[in-house]
Amino acid sequence: MPIDYSDIPSPCFVLEEELLRKNLELIDSVQKAAGCKIILALKGFSMYSAFPIVKEYLHGATASSLNEIRLINDFMGYQAHTYIPAYLENEFEEVLSRSSHITFNTLSQWERFKDRVAIYRKSNPLQELSCGIRVNPQYSEVSTEMYNPCVPGSRLGVTRDKLPDLLPEGIEGIHFHTLCENDSYTLERTLAAVEERFGDLLHQARWLNMGGGHLMTREGYDTSKLIDLVSTIREKYNLEVILEPGSAIAWRTGELVTTVLDVMDSQGIEVAVLDTSFAAHMPDTLEMPYKPVIKGAYQEPVEGKYTCRMGGMTCLAGDFMGDYSFDKPLEVGDKIIFEDMIHYTMVKTTTFNGVNLPSIGLWTKDQKFRLIRSFGYESFKDRLS
Ligand SMILES: Cc1ncc(COP(=O)(O)O)c(C=O)c1O
Repeated sequence: MPIDYSDIPSPCFVLEEELLRKNLELIDSVQKAAGCKIILALKGFSMYSAFPIVKEYLHGATASSLNEIRLINDFMGYQAHTYIPAYLENEFEEVLSRSSHITFNTLSQWERFKDRVAIYRKSNPLQELSCGIRVNPQYSEVSTEMYNPCVPGSRLGVTRDKLPDLLPEGIEGIHFHTLCENDSYTLERTLAAVEERFGDLLHQARWLNMGGGHLMTREGYDTSKLIDLVSTIREKYNLEVILEPGSAIAWRTGELVTTVLDVMDSQGIEVAVLDTSFAAHMPDTLEMPYKPVIKGAYQEPVEGKYTCRMGGMTCLAGDFMGDYSFDKPLEVGDKIIFEDMIHYTMVKTTTFNGVNLPSIGLWTKDQKFRLIRSFGYESFKDRLS
């Protein structure tokens, strides 16, 4: 049944429960078949009101900051898998107390904190706490530099020449993250690079975390290939394998519902002003950049059709996206629905220009809308002083 948008406030992120469950079912079937653990990366999807649903399928989550760790503890009830590029001295004990796995980005970070790990372990012998190191296999097929952690100058992970022949005592895991919205064939080539450079260390490790970027819920992704790759590496090195996707979990699970506030002609170009902002509500569209899909619209201008640019409600000149074509001219009050706006969108919103954050809601599996949260002046004010 199509969503009834009439009762949904605007702007509002609407997560569709059925679509989320569909993704989670697929991911669960992969982890069972491959004999690995697939956990949620909060950086891509942190809608904690949906964590009880996620928890029905996935049994862990990964954090890149103490705040994400706390969200995992509080709303999933799990100790976190933690990787932070550099740990803060004053947070470190709390990070340890809330994590089951903790990955260090460099050997100098490990050297700086390893004594504190040992002391913490001694006084908390019952807590599962395993340490790992992030490696840089110097192989990534991600063409956008912004998302490529293997380029020279990357601060993310240790290259092989910086590691000794034996894993440092106390390091049990190896972590790499070099994929971004990739398929299992990219993983295959990446694993070949990882094995070539780090194969000897894999034999010494207890676990291997293959990071995120495995877009297994995208149509056409070959999951049986992924299952083969994971099973092979797991058996070959006698390792526990962990995957930590973010995008794949919330991929195409909902939209951002917005409304036309005004329509104007700007020197021959038709422009609609919306009650949203690309800069504040969908920053990836400008940063990445990419053109988001609008439900029911032609994604590129069509000769002879009504064509319009989507404008944001901030005063930033570049806060616009376009152009799109429609079957009929837009009017004030029309809904503009941006598709696939759950992963890496909700987590990146800001109140730039004083705009309110979009509300957050759920379209339940029994086809009802549940408003979870709305934001106002307090959310804007709380970030400033
Ligand atoms: C270390 C790490 N793990 C996991 C992820 C999640 O990746 P994705 O959302 O592309 O699956 C990221 C994303 O940047 C990451 O940096």
